[in-house]
Amino acid sequence: MTDAELRNMVSKTLTCRIDKRENCGEKMEQFLKRCFYHSGQYDSEENFTELDKKLKEHEAGRVSNRLFYLSIPPNIFIDAVKCASLSASSANGWTRVIVEKPFGRDSESSAALTNDLKQYLAEDQIFRIDHYLGKELVENLSVLRFSNLIFEPLWSRQYIRNVQFIFSEDFGTEGRGGYFDNYGIIRDIMQNHLLQILALFAMETPVSLDAEDIRNEKVKVLRSMKPLQLEDVVIGQYKSHTKGGVTYPAYTDDKTVPKDSLTPTFAAAALFIDNARWDGVPFLMKAGKALHTKGTEIRVQFRHVPGNLYNRNFGTDLDRATNELVIRVQPNEAIYLKINNKVPGLGMRLDRSNLNLHYAARYSKEIPDAYERLLLDAIEGERRLFIRSDELNAAWALFTPLLKELEEKKIIPEYYPHGSRGPVGAHYLAAKYNVRWGDLSIEQ
Ligand code: BG6
Repeated sequence: MTDAELRNMVSKTLTCRIDKRENCGEKMEQFLKRCFYHSGQYDSEENFTELDKKLKEHEAGRVSNRLFYLSIPPNIFIDAVKCASLSASSANGWTRVIVEKPFGRDSESSAALTNDLKQYLAEDQIFRIDHYLGKELVENLSVLRFSNLIFEPLWSRQYIRNVQFIFSEDFGTEGRGGYFDNYGIIRDIMQNHLLQILALFAMETPVSLDAEDIRNEKVKVLRSMKPLQLEDVVIGQYKSHTKGGVTYPAYTDDKTVPKDSLTPTFAAAALFIDNARWDGVPFLMKAGKALHTKGTEIRVQFRHVPGNLYNRNFGTDLDRATNELVIRVQPNEAIYLKINNKVPGLGMRLDRSNLNLHYAARYSKEIPDAYERLLLDAIEGERRLFIRSDELNAAWALFTPLLKELEEKKIIPEYYPHGSRGPVGAHYLAAKYNVRWGDLSIEQ
């Protein structure tokens, strides 16, 4: 690619919507002028030396920081880091490296990767991205908890019956099968995105909002988690389905996926945190591809009101009368609380209504993409939303034994039709802990 070709490509998606929308054209022009393309091999120190030389020409002796963003396959990670660090580190400013998952595929490979990285970089140079931490509503979790009196006192086993973390996509692996088949949904979504949200949800109040204080609390949650049992996990894989004359492919129809693959494209799990705050509270996770809908949400189901005076007004289904707080991470960002309310009139009929904070209605500002926030944070050296190595170890320690067992025992996934609500096994798993998936109830 030439510089002009690169600039042309970048300009197609470049916006200045976060800025005050003043002089957009000029600002974009200035930015594009500073984009250059340099090609080379990931494992060639010589090529990185050339890159260094080229960068120096542009830097013209000024204090210059360098941020390498490695959105590359994991097998060439270390080569690229080695070359970047040895041959293209900043001479007079900082050098940082952003790495994207997968950070290994189990405890051992992740530890080996961390070890290798640390040969060339200090921990504070490494920015491990979990882009879910950059999502607006995930960032807002701590604000919700720690700056509102009404939530934090309820945030424990005493008032919370269960918590659900739900991720669903209404499309399959679509060309990413080659990567996906080696990882599966548990590694792709649960071990990182959902577990990170869980840690933020469940952590104790940090000493401050500093990155280390927050990450210290998150890692405590991860280390307090009860080992995950095979009987507390359900796995599924989507199969082909024809609807309205259209045939949607099975996972194994993907050309890059082996025909006999047992890799899960869906998983549900019940997890527990063995600490004073959360003892006995089921934290349910569910993640799947090729489901009926696309969305990510956190659902907090509260306990029943003891000695509820209005029991008879609810009929027999008392579960429907409990409060539920829903944090809809995406799409249509929202936070709403289901409460019981008297239906206006002379009678005494109750219904369920929502106290509703719908972002689009409340805030006119566009919500920045997770990556915009995270890249900016990396530039500013803000580590709060990046994963520290001990967090990563704890996350793998929780999932590795289970993943090994699933693979060694060749557990067959429950097949579910493309575009369906997923395997029924997920309902049985929830029912075992007296839980109903909130996203599948009639009133969402
Ligand atoms: C990635 C996963 O981390 O997250 C993908 O590897 C998944 O499989 C994606 O599709 C979802 O991200 P988002 O931001 O589109 O919800």
